[in-house]
This record gives sequence, C-alpha cells and structure tokens, in this order.
Amino acid sequence: MTVLEIITYPDSRLSEMSEPVKVIDEEVKRLVEDMADTMFEAPGLGLAAVQVGILKKILVYSDQPEAENKSYKVLINPEIVKSDGKHLSENEGCLSVPEFRSNVQRAAKVSVKALNLQNEPVEINAEGMLAVVLQHEIDHLNGILFIDRISSLKRQIYKRKVNKLIKEA
Ligand code: NI
Repeated sequence: MTVLEIITYPDSRLSEMSEPVKVIDEEVKRLVEDMADTMFEAPGLGLAAVQVGILKKILVYSDQPEAENKSYKVLINPEIVKSDGKHLSENEGCLSVPEFRSNVQRAAKVSVKALNLQNEPVEINAEGMLAVVLQHEIDHLNGILFIDRISSLKRQIYKRKVNKLIKEA
C-alpha cells in the first residue's frame, strides 16, 4: 500500500491540462493502485492523477462509498460525451482545495466514454452523486478546479484565506 502526497491549490500543476494515456502498462497500473490507496486514505470519493502530481488522464473513484470492502473503478482518458439537466452540487469539496466548500452548478446527468485498465472502451451513464464525482474529476484532468466554477467573489474569499495561510507559514 502506497499513499501518495496530494498537491493542493495554488500548485500550478492543478491548472494544467493532463495528457492522454497512450499505453496502459505496468507503470500506469501501479499508479492506479497507489491512487486508490491515496483516495481511500484521504478519504475521498474520487481522485485524478494530477492531484498526485502526474499529468495523465487517469481517474479513480469509489463506486460503493458506503460499503465495508473498499472497491473502486478506474477511467483512462475519460471524456464527457453528453450532459443533461442541471443539478446544484451542495457543499462540494476537493482534496486539493483544503478547508473550503461551496455549492457548484453541475449537470444532472452525464455520459462518459473512457478506457478501462484492460484497454477496453467503456461508457458510463451517471446521475446523482456519481455524476457530480465524474464531472469534478474530469474537470481536474482539464485543469479546472471546482473553485473555477463558483462566483469570483467567493473565489476571492478563498484565495485571500490561502494567501494568509501561506504568509503565516
Ligand atoms: Ni478534486
């Protein structure tokens, strides 16, 4: 079990675009296992590779957050191909944006195309919490944080708080 360090705002890597994975090799598989360990340890519902400093289009998410046995799913090169409706995601948070939560406007339903670890194409139709998690994690792979999707006033409040913490440290 390897728990990796999670990078946090204002680390500039969090606003970079991740690169598509070309080959799903042993290195990718090992990274996925470490990302899952890191997600469960945090704990979080999902984790994108960029959050452990790797700019590759890989995400993991917990598919049964309430269950005892911790199981997770992996999406390689995920892409939202369809989104429908509106959903106010309440008190959304992020392991890379500590000490802050906000409501975020999200789509109610999404269809996501990706590859699984066996290099097979998968399509997921999600709604509810899973739809929010997938939108949040896929945003990470495109260099977008949830604080980029809130009002600039609220974002400024958070940035001031972070700057103050950095000065104090
Ligand atoms: Ni996040």
